[in-house]
Amino acid sequence: MTSRPIYALLGAPVHHSLSPALQNAAFHARGIDAVYVALWTWGELVEPLMRSLALAGGGGNVTVPHKNRAAQALDQPAAAVRATGACNVFWWEDGLGLCGDNTDVAAFRTAAEAVLGSGLDGSRVLLLGAGGAARAVVHACSGSEVEKVDIVNRTPERAEALVRDLGEPSRVEVVDDDDVKASAGTYDLVVNATSLGLAVSDPLPIDPRTVRARALLDLVYGRSETPLVLAARQAGLTAADGRRMLVEQAAASFRRWFDRDPPLEVMFEAAGFAS
Ligand code: ATR
Repeated sequence: MTSRPIYALLGAPVHHSLSPALQNAAFHARGIDAVYVALWTWGELVEPLMRSLALAGGGGNVTVPHKNRAAQALDQPAAAVRATGACNVFWWEDGLGLCGDNTDVAAFRTAAEAVLGSGLDGSRVLLLGAGGAARAVVHACSGSEVEKVDIVNRTPERAEALVRDLGEPSRVEVVDDDDVKASAGTYDLVVNATSLGLAVSDPLPIDPRTVRARALLDLVYGRSETPLVLAARQAGLTAADGRRMLVEQAAASFRRWFDRDPPLEVMFEAAGFAS
């Protein structure tokens, strides 16, 4: 009997995740005999799970708060992992071992351009957070002609480390809430890359009324639109939650695992919205 390859999302929490729904729909649509599950995972289990899933012919994704740890577990980190120190997709290749990439980078660019209604070039970005997701955002911005990225984080030292690791100090700067309120100019895009919003009891990561901005992208998503997205719209911003980025990174993950085109329409539908 041959066993069915298992693909898993490793994170904490994972109960809210739409990844199983959209990957299983994609597997079904392409006739792939595999299953995708979400596993609530403690830190010390990340590497053993990655290796056993991948070695058994499957693979998976990694989410909050394990993307940095996953990057360190790889035998073959792709360029985007080396640049960001964060990994969100893994698989096995004979002769290479445990391979991983960061498909959040390109997915963020697509989602940001959709909410802005234009390219990222020339834009001013306010980034909330300094974890693995924030690293993907800064790397995507570094690859575009973004004018400026201001970063606010609960732990400023972590944001300083991000700038040191990835930074182009002239364009990427750590600021605090008061700097944001006092900022003379406006931001084109506010990005929430903190995990605030995953729990219903979470406060908003920022009050959108206190920022002069055109658009907001919340990388968090839920069963319905997030409180931050609703508050941003009330404050007059164009806003979107993390579902487009989720689908784009999932489609890119599918390409890494199977080396074939993902059924994008099916994946968008499974995530609850039309492409
Ligand atoms: P991911 O890899 O998905 O980015 P992460 O590395 O755990 O996950 O990062 C989570 C981000 O959310 C961090 O910026 C974190 O701030 P700290 O660097 O200070 O830990 C932020 N975050 C999590 N809980 C928060 C809270 N209660 N208030 C403010 N920021 C929070």
